[in-house]
Amino acid sequence: MRHLMNITDFSVEEINELIEVSKDIINNGSKYSEKCKGKQLATLFFEPSTRTRLSFESAMLSLGGSVLGFSSASSSSTAKGESVGDTIQTVSCYADIIAMRHPKEGAPEVAAQTTLVPIINAGDGGHNHPTQTLTDLLTISQEKGTLDNLTIGLCGDLKFGRTVHSLITAMSRYKNVKFILISPVELQLPDYIIKDVLEKNNIEYKVTQSMEEYMDELDILYMTRVQKERFFNEADYIRLKDYYILDCNKLGKAKKDLCIMHPLPRVNEIAKEVDSDPRAAYFRQVKYGKYIRMALILKLLEIK
Ligand code: NCD
Repeated sequence: MRHLMNITDFSVEEINELIEVSKDIINNGSKYSEKCKGKQLATLFFEPSTRTRLSFESAMLSLGGSVLGFSSASSSSTAKGESVGDTIQTVSCYADIIAMRHPKEGAPEVAAQTTLVPIINAGDGGHNHPTQTLTDLLTISQEKGTLDNLTIGLCGDLKFGRTVHSLITAMSRYKNVKFILISPVELQLPDYIIKDVLEKNNIEYKVTQSMEEYMDELDILYMTRVQKERFFNEADYIRLKDYYILDCNKLGKAKKDLCIMHPLPRVNEIAKEVDSDPRAAYFRQVKYGKYIRMALILKLLEIK
């Protein structure tokens, strides 16, 4: 039985295979409409979510399966003091596969110790978010036609942004990828990712506080929200929350085929006026999230 805890749980070949299956789903959706007949997906969200939970549910429903679950810890027995291990062991008696999101880093690994069915990490604290990364990889592959030879700017909260951590880890396995890390000093990428991912693999990267400094070099601009819920101090959040706001003016020097991404939700970091720029890919990205999760469910349930 396989789980998805970290994006590196899958080889590059397996990820490429998931991308290919997603593309087939996009083109031949009806072929997949009964693949998960009789199967149940549980979505256990101990933390808020719109896209991740609903895309998982929509994915399973489009595969002919059904869904159960909860969307907040307060409506589950967690509120009575039940441990993650016991909750997961219980739900794995009902469901065939579980997608879970939890505020504590490492909670999915704890879940993996008691589960009877595959577990998918749908975000653990400020750590990882591998299914957002699968979404991002499909988006990049569709929008740019390749995952190699790209300069990727990541902008905003690189410290607490789990989608950034998983995306850098994933993209570091493709050829000739460079990163521009754009953040305030307080929200820089954690040292463990710089050392264990970027430096260990000899990946070229630049650190800047300026959104515009390298704008003309970027193939991808990945914007992120400042992660309010991970701050210890509200004053720090208020000071940093609007540090970067992308607008049409700031895109002045950008490439004509730049791809602007955002895992969403957006707060203020992208002005509404950017939405009508054809380079704004973030709502297309939302759609890709459903297709790749369909491919992922099939893979973990070993359905051909
Ligand atoms: C992200 C998350 O939960 O980490 N959202 C998502 O799943 N699409 C990003 C965020 O909340 O800022």
